[in-house]
Amino acid sequence: MIRDEAKLRAYYANPPEDVCLEDIDLDRVPRHVSFIMDGNGRWAQAKGLPRSSGHAAGVDSLREVVTTSVRLGIDVLSAYAFSTENWRRSQEEVGLLMHLFATTLVHELPLFHQENVRLQFLGDISELPAETREVFLRGLSETADHDGMTFALAVNYGSRAELVRAARSIARDVGAGTLGADQIDEDLFASRLYTQGLPDPELLVRTSGELRLSNYLLWQLAYTEIFVTDVLWPDFTKWDYLRAIRAYQGRDRRFGGVSTA
Ligand code: IPE
Ligand code: IPE
Ligand code: MG
Repeated sequence: MIRDEAKLRAYYANPPEDVCLEDIDLDRVPRHVSFIMDGNGRWAQAKGLPRSSGHAAGVDSLREVVTTSVRLGIDVLSAYAFSTENWRRSQEEVGLLMHLFATTLVHELPLFHQENVRLQFLGDISELPAETREVFLRGLSETADHDGMTFALAVNYGSRAELVRAARSIARDVGAGTLGADQIDEDLFASRLYTQGLPDPELLVRTSGELRLSNYLLWQLAYTEIFVTDVLWPDFTKWDYLRAIRAYQGRDRRFGGVSTA
């Protein structure tokens, strides 16, 4: 993607002591960065606030990550906002989250227009409450023509459900005789996932220190570099983003082969 370097440098002026833009190689920025945005509840709890205020504060971090991704020239940004398992939370928290998703998207649509961001959803949004679903569909249609960064938000997403859905769709075609079992290969399988058409993430960032995937992109993360930070999502900044990319660029990605370095 085209990057405005002057804008990027201005955006990263006044760095903290331990990290600056010059630490990263702009020619080797990942194409697709994915985030598991975790720790909103703990952030709120530490401040004696309700969990919902952690989610509200998390919106500011996500906005900063969207802007930073555009500045860095990242092609695809994806983020895990609500899992198929998150329905287990209290009705109150789920309801507040769904309302927050809707109001946030309405509020942020001008940013997507301004930055030429195309919105996409990973997960089954048909199961969401009407208010959220309708705003999401509006966001999809209003940004469909944007050809800058793709922002894929995972809502009601679970990787196992996604894989079962893909298997079912393939089985249907085989059953109907339009697809032969021998034609099923990795590319075909990947084309039946919500991420169809997107490159796999090179970098996954999880906040709040948890060392697990929590049913996120199990297929797509097969060779992704994982960066876990103790920073809680509402505290995550553009500087943490640079720290993650710096760590990624220091890794030796072998893909099962032997180091070329
Ligand atoms: C992540 O923060 C947001 C969602 C999963 C919706 P959490 O709400 O999981 O925060 P913690 O993990 O309880 O701190
Ligand atoms: C993962 O976080 C899901 C999202 C960030 C949306 P969780 O907080 O739900 O994950 P667990 O329960 O700690 O594994
Ligand atoms: Mg959590």
